[in-house]
Amino acid sequence: MMTDTISDDGDDGMTRRTVLAAGAATAAGLATAKGVEAAPSGQKTPPPPMPVTLKVNGKDRSLSLDPRTTLLDALREHLHLTGTKKGCDHGQCGACTVIVDGRRINSCLTLAVMHDGDAVTTIEGLGTPDDLHPMQKAFVTHDGYQCGYCTPGQICSAVSVLREIEAGVPSHASADLMDIAFSDAEVRERMSGNICRCAAYPNIIAAIRDVAGKARA
Ligand code: FES
Ligand code: FES
Repeated sequence: MMTDTISDDGDDGMTRRTVLAAGAATAAGLATAKGVEAAPSGQKTPPPPMPVTLKVNGKDRSLSLDPRTTLLDALREHLHLTGTKKGCDHGQCGACTVIVDGRRINSCLTLAVMHDGDAVTTIEGLGTPDDLHPMQKAFVTHDGYQCGYCTPGQICSAVSVLREIEAGVPSHASADLMDIAFSDAEVRERMSGNICRCAAYPNIIAAIRDVAGKARA
């Protein structure tokens, strides 16, 4: 088998060092030719912080945030409201659901700076241990949770679901778009973005039905 070796002092006038240098120069030339430039020196510098004021659970909270901060991280890491949970961080589980200006959203999918001036309600703002929101009470009464990790998101979603139905907002399960009424099918469809790995679904539905005043005899 033939091997190509280049000595450090090749008698053809080419040393290992000159070969390596030539290779590096060629690679750099190709990269430039393809428009692949070295990263600009400032690229790794974080963007300057931006001021943002959120009305969280009724109180104005002013923050200075990296504009890439999600609303979820602003709540948990900067305001230490850890009731809102991070599950997937990709908009797939609903654990991070909060209510912004009356509508539920996945707080992991939105940037905090996009909500300057908005009213944000988290699970801490719905009720307190001494004064539970009716939905929180119903989840306790109906055992609507097991490990509880998904529960804050489930409750924020459930509160919004009842408001949506009351406001006549249709869902994929609505048979008549002009006549939106409470039903288990409506609730299941509307709560489908809130995943419960403990599978407490029947009890969650029972809790929501209870608060809606639709408890079955
Ligand atoms: S953490 Fe936001 S949807 Fe899962
Ligand atoms: S209660 Fe455990 S994930 Fe829902």
